[in-house]
Amino acid sequence: MASLPRAGAFVAGAVGRTGPLTQPSSSHPTAPAGNDFLPGPVLLLGAPGVGKGTQAQLLVTKYGIPQISTGDLLRGNIARGTELGLKAKEIMSAGLLVDDEIVNQMVLHRLQEKDTHRGYILDGYPRTLDQAKFLDHTIAGPIFLPRLPVIAISIVVAYDQLLKRITGRRICPECKHIYNLYSNPPRVAGVCDLDGARLTQRGDDTEPVFVERMKTFDAQTAPVVAHYRDQGRFEEADGDQSVEAVNAAIERAIIKLRRGPR
Ligand code: AP5
Repeated sequence: MASLPRAGAFVAGAVGRTGPLTQPSSSHPTAPAGNDFLPGPVLLLGAPGVGKGTQAQLLVTKYGIPQISTGDLLRGNIARGTELGLKAKEIMSAGLLVDDEIVNQMVLHRLQEKDTHRGYILDGYPRTLDQAKFLDHTIAGPIFLPRLPVIAISIVVAYDQLLKRITGRRICPECKHIYNLYSNPPRVAGVCDLDGARLTQRGDDTEPVFVERMKTFDAQTAPVVAHYRDQGRFEEADGDQSVEAVNAAIERAIIKLRRGPR
């Protein structure tokens, strides 16, 4: 895939037919944090379907910081029909990764918005060692607020559970609430409990694409997990428990990693 110009030019030049590459995360409204605790940058790592998006939404409410999901940003581009969206659609449908340069610049642009100053949750990024190096050296550098190092939490779920989670997932296109036909169905089939919108299924949530996404994860993203484990400021959370129990484990991990030795 063609490489892109650097940050400033990229943002201006990559505006597609209907809008910019990134849009403020209005789909996940932030709530005021109840205390002075500064979460800083939090990475949620893990295979497809481990619960990164579900947990990120809970952390948004708890800490009042935004969720930055590269998958959502890319799907936003597809929905708006941007040039990037047209390229990304084919790659995502095949279970492969979008070019590092594109994703890095998209995240760089998003992190410059003011709502990231107390921290943010990166969901689905970094996903390759090159993305991790970019994050470590550029995005987490001194010009970006908050001036705290990233902490990484890897959610772990056994392979055989993940297929059910992926194929059973349904999403509200309006409020982005995530359901599951098996573990967390809506009260009325196919309809969002919160706003009555008709639920949708992601195009890549099929068994054949899931198999490819898992291969991609093992080959390109598992080394990223090892990278952050080796750096410290890393915890693993057992994702094979209730959503609430996983959430409690992640919040404990965040507090431990932030309050631990600097
Ligand atoms: P992305 O959108 O990031 O997908 P993913 O990483 O494969 O992760 P998912 O969104 O599928 O799962 P999740 O862990 O968020 O699980 P969720 O909470 O929804 O990426 C899609 C594509 O975009 C990639 O394949 C790639 O092509 C491209 N892309 C994205 N980022 C990129 C990057 N950085 N670089 C290059 N390309 C990139 O939960 C899943 C289901 O399980 C739901 O139904 C939920 O209700 C249920 N569930 C959650 N928790 C529990 C629980 N504790 N118990 C039971 N059910 C649960």
